[in-house]
Amino acid sequence: MKLFLDTANIQEVREAAALGAICGITTNPSLAAKENIGDLESYKSSILILTQLIDGPISVEVTAAEASRMVQQGEEIATWHPNVVVKIPSTMDGFKAMAVLCRQGIPVNQTLCFSINQALLGAEVGVRYVSPFVGRMDDEGQDGMQVVREMVQVFRLHGIKTNVLAASLRHPMHVVEAAKAGADVATIPFKVLLQMTHHPLTDVGMARFTKDWQQAAKP
Ligand code: G3P
Repeated sequence: MKLFLDTANIQEVREAAALGAICGITTNPSLAAKENIGDLESYKSSILILTQLIDGPISVEVTAAEASRMVQQGEEIATWHPNVVVKIPSTMDGFKAMAVLCRQGIPVNQTLCFSINQALLGAEVGVRYVSPFVGRMDDEGQDGMQVVREMVQVFRLHGIKTNVLAASLRHPMHVVEAAKAGADVATIPFKVLLQMTHHPLTDVGMARFTKDWQQAAKP
């Protein structure tokens, strides 16, 4: 399973890049707004910086809600950089926009996906990624990871090439479960990436190694 970072924060991407384990980035309008990005021009400037830090797919979401405007924005966003993937929501207008963009060979990440049926509609037109929002389904009392499991199962059964990208992951166990479910990608917030590096027994072990080494070095 590949790991992407779910952020529009340049410093977070810089620090994550140093770990080497992150090979893509996902953003959305809320993450962009958190970084004071409020228009497509500043979204573009930030994305171009991110492309220099991580050499892999970078999802950029359209902000329009109507199909023809989504297509216009998607076509524009796709010109920003060869690694850019256009993120389109799983709405009626979104599905129409996905169909047009996929026909043009523009890579699409189908976002805000909450069901196998929505995922099948995107897969049929050839989206590159589909993003089930695990945490938000959990918030509603639905088992979000079960949707990921079933999506992976259905795609394998039918030889569907669309990548299942587990999103809205909130804690390290979500990452483990996404890996066990067979997700192709997990996109994680920076906080979860930091949590993944940590285990208390590693800290205890390091303290003991250091102490033992220092004592042995005494004359
Ligand atoms: O990858 C989607 C993500 O940004 C949404 O996460 O925690 O707002 O549901 P969350």
